Amino acid sequence: MSIVEKFVTMDYGPAPEDPGEAVAWLDRHKRRFGHFINGAFQAPFDGKYFDTTDPSTNEKLAEVAQGSTADIDAAVKTARNALPRWQSLTPHARARYLYALARQIQKHSRRLAVLETLDNGKPIRESRDIDIPLVARHFYHHAGWAQLLAQEVPGYEACGVVGQIIPWNFPLLMLAWKIAPALATGNTVVLKPAEFTSLTALAFAEICQEIDLPAGVVNIVTGDGSTGEALVAHLDVDKIAFTGSTEVGRAIRKATASSHKKLSLELGGKSPFIIFEDADLDSAVEGLVDGIWFNQGQVCCAGSRLLMQESIAEPLIAKICARMNTLRVGPPLDKAIDIGAIIARVQLDRIQRLVDQGVAEGATCWQPSIPMPSRGLYFPPTLLSNVHPTSIVAQQEIFGPVLAAMTFRTPSEAVELANNTAYGLAACVWSESINVSLHVASQIKAGVVWVNCTNLFDASTGFGGYRESGYGREGGREGLLEYLEPTWFKHAPQLHARPLAIDQPPQQLPESTADSATPPIDRTVKLFIAGKQARPDSGYSTPVRAADGRLLGEAPLGNRKDIRNAVEAARKATAWSKSTAHSRAQVLYYLAENLSQRRDEIANRLSDLVGKNQAEAEVSTSIERIFTYAAWADKYEGTIHNPPFRNVTLAMQEPIGTIGILCPQETPLLGFVSTVMPAIAVGNTTVAIPSELYPLITADLYQLFETSDLPAGAVNIVTGRPSELLKTLAEHDDLDALWCFADARTCATAKSLSIGNLKQTFTNEGRSIDWFNPAQSEGRFFLQHATQIKNIWVPYGE
Ligand code: NAI
Repeated sequence: MSIVEKFVTMDYGPAPEDPGEAVAWLDRHKRRFGHFINGAFQAPFDGKYFDTTDPSTNEKLAEVAQGSTADIDAAVKTARNALPRWQSLTPHARARYLYALARQIQKHSRRLAVLETLDNGKPIRESRDIDIPLVARHFYHHAGWAQLLAQEVPGYEACGVVGQIIPWNFPLLMLAWKIAPALATGNTVVLKPAEFTSLTALAFAEICQEIDLPAGVVNIVTGDGSTGEALVAHLDVDKIAFTGSTEVGRAIRKATASSHKKLSLELGGKSPFIIFEDADLDSAVEGLVDGIWFNQGQVCCAGSRLLMQESIAEPLIAKICARMNTLRVGPPLDKAIDIGAIIARVQLDRIQRLVDQGVAEGATCWQPSIPMPSRGLYFPPTLLSNVHPTSIVAQQEIFGPVLAAMTFRTPSEAVELANNTAYGLAACVWSESINVSLHVASQIKAGVVWVNCTNLFDASTGFGGYRESGYGREGGREGLLEYLEPTWFKHAPQLHARPLAIDQPPQQLPESTADSATPPIDRTVKLFIAGKQARPDSGYSTPVRAADGRLLGEAPLGNRKDIRNAVEAARKATAWSKSTAHSRAQVLYYLAENLSQRRDEIANRLSDLVGKNQAEAEVSTSIERIFTYAAWADKYEGTIHNPPFRNVTLAMQEPIGTIGILCPQETPLLGFVSTVMPAIAVGNTTVAIPSELYPLITADLYQLFETSDLPAGAVNIVTGRPSELLKTLAEHDDLDALWCFADARTCATAKSLSIGNLKQTFTNEGRSIDWFNPAQSEGRFFLQHATQIKNIWVPYGE
């Protein structure tokens, strides 16, 4: 045989990883695991266990405890008891523990990688080279954050006891993403791994013992969805962090709405993989292999929608098919395998069902003729072409090795297709033009955009979604903040809301002292929508009275239709969202200037309701506050990360979009300014419901806006019965976020009504905010809620 012939016929031989040590570890535990509570493994209260299997063989690996409400309760109590001691440690002491975890993970990295592959079915190449190194990196990075916490995030404290629920696709990595920041910030943890993949979490529990982590700081309760539900429902949990399906994320959002629990959700995705005609096609195809066939496509940020520029579609498809023909599907412990086993039968069936549905809807299905294993749970790499953008396979997360391909002609069409989804987790853009790439990246609604690369992750760089892909970030400084609260906010007393003016019965009016022969000119207040004063659709008004019962005027009674018009106007106000930070700053300065000119007349009117002193203080503090946000408008900037690859990552602060705001009632002018200004300073557009005590402030506000060059639709104001208006706002699918500053019950209502499109919420949790105190009522705390970070990864070098 000639060398050339040898080269052509050469094939991979088997290169199996030795599972000996991982198997010995399972045997040492007699293949049966209790929960890890208070630093020790404990049998479940009701003695129930379930099997965990190797999906590549269907063989049982071990029995794992099924957590009950009693187990969760025991774990939460332990975490609560451990909290004072854990928090009394110095940041340096906590940093040492995190460092020890990182080191211990590295020391046992191969055993952990093999265990992960056995339990999950992912190729050993991935668990060994990607998952476990990233786990260690996460603990190292957060050892650093623990050390620097007091200096870098002063004035904040830990949430307390944190409940964490993770999925099965990256079991130990998701654990690290959750536990490392929680511990670094001084929280204690109860974590529930996914029912299919508990083993590496239990191995991690043992590592916690090995490094003498104080008992109760980390607790691991295994079980299925019902165990997760019990954790979410537990009254003594301060925060829930969840990664998993959007459906369960919605259920968790609902279950936590009426509580004070802080919530972060990392949910599904349907991420676009955009290839322009000027891209390096061979690199793009390699990227695609990582984008959709990594971890059998069971990746929340998988590049599952291929968008190809029409001019290159044919050669690109040919290259993709040729590459698919070389993919190797098989036993995941084989080091030369590309695609391992699917996690469970139920998932395999789901993938097949969705592919069948896609084909029934007109897609063409192509699968390579490659050897497939005869046993275990496997699905071949699959290409669906001619996919219509509305097809189920273009819209729903398949979570399998299935790529849905579509074409586009222009960059703007690519952006439109990319954003044609309820999700917004990640995107890839392939083009040799940095201008095109960054221009497209800036327009895609997703938390992560990889330019000419894919599926890169690092502890320094936040990861998380836009829209129905959830909210909150994991990794980086922004990930830390998810586990912290401002100290003043955490301990703020509950707000005692004053009775609503519009609900008070009309009272006997005092005799007018004005000259009865010349009645005052009626002052008409209207709604403010799309830059115009508008009469309410209902045609009704409602009286507004002073504290002593005097009639101050009538406020229009807005309704659902007015809110809808206002949201539409806000969405169309692209002049504001696209304006430069410098222009926004100028408009805000001008607004402050105009308020200053009219300070006396506005304070006079306001004093009827809140008294002279408060009225004057509200006006002067409002002027200062607008200045504050004019100052911030061009300073609340992103940052650049240097992850340990040949990349820079641009962490851009982007506005959330359109925000609905129920303004606080107790300070009609200052409350409006303190909530609406941070939102618009960073480029959001808003629909505000002003103080229900004094909605007449609307007239003063729109006169200011009209004279301050604020583009139409940037701020819209609808007065009326807040309870009715809030419902329409919360349920409106075109609203991206809802802010609510009111009593605890109203905040809970706002959160529970807005679960439909999973809009982000920001509330005072019914707590009192001192709107006159800048330490509480202005600055980063508000700006953080007005923005979301998009990380754009840009490689360098050849
Ligand atoms: P899932 O969302 O049901 O499970 C994730 C975690 O949540 C697991 O630990 C589970 O036990 C727990 N859980 C389930 N119901 C719960 C509840 N009511 N309250 C609290 N915790 C609960 O995901 P599943 O069923 O494993 O996969 C279904 C689909 O979800 C997949 O086909 C995929 O499309 C998507 N998925 C997305 C993930 C992501 O990272 N975005 C991860 C896993 C699944």
